[in-house]
Amino acid sequence: MPHPTPSPYDEIAPMYHHLWADWYLPAALPALDKLFFSRVPSGAHVLDLCCGSGHVTKELVARGYRVTGVDNSAELIRIARSELRAADFCVQDARELHLNECCDAVLCTFDSLNHIPDIAGLRMVFERVRQALKPGGLFVFDMNLEEAYSADLREWAVNITDRTVGLVRGTFDAAAKTARTELIWFVRANGDDSNRNDLWKQHRSTIEQQCFPQSEILESLASAGFRHIECVPSRDAGVTSDLGFGRVFFVTNAPVHE
Ligand SMILES: C[S@@+](CC[C@H](N)C(=O)[O-])C[C@H]1O[C@@H](n2cnc3c(N)ncnc32)[C@H](O)[C@@H]1O
Repeated sequence: MPHPTPSPYDEIAPMYHHLWADWYLPAALPALDKLFFSRVPSGAHVLDLCCGSGHVTKELVARGYRVTGVDNSAELIRIARSELRAADFCVQDARELHLNECCDAVLCTFDSLNHIPDIAGLRMVFERVRQALKPGGLFVFDMNLEEAYSADLREWAVNITDRTVGLVRGTFDAAAKTARTELIWFVRANGDDSNRNDLWKQHRSTIEQQCFPQSEILESLASAGFRHIECVPSRDAGVTSDLGFGRVFFVTNAPVHE
């Protein structure tokens, strides 16, 4: 299988792992409990699609699932593998997803599918997910709708520790429906040598997301064979932080008869 092209997450993978990913899981837990964990029995084989550095994967393993994590960032997968030995990880583009064995359920969190740049690509993901699921298997994912991006400010958010400085700025092009997140991550390059505070390495990346109308997401799911799709605004599912704003959970099952 060809290796995916480099991901914009590769350059800032440690920044994502330390600053960002931990933000999602505590806020999303009530929704994941209600929409996923309570519907999938422990021991089931779960695909964590676009698993990043494995924050949600770790939670799935802790709940007794057998987990495969897939992401197209080789650097995030490297971190996930080093942190979590109890799951299988694989570098793959979600649009070309291929598992050796069908799974019982697929979970795809934290607006990962907004990273797919066009509706044709999103359709390819849904088609591959249906093929990867056993008949009747559960598919849950959350995506941001336009409302979520309207809150993006052009101001830099700054996070400073002794060894790192992280800067993040989000912007949204309302005409193109494209959101851009610029990330800059300075890391002290001189290890633990406290006499040399002056050497810092800079990592920069820009991550793009696409905002699709809910109707197009639903049509794409239907064209990939998914029926009976539940759309749950994340506030209604118990997400109370700003991650609840404009985010919708989609819940559906693979068809039982092809
Ligand atoms: C916001 S992060 C969410 C990561 C993880 N699901 C979590 O909750 O922490 C989005 C993830 O989607 C992955 N991603 C983006 N485009 C992808 C693609 N085409 N195929 C596979 N993974 C992709 C990124 O590498 C990144 O790990």
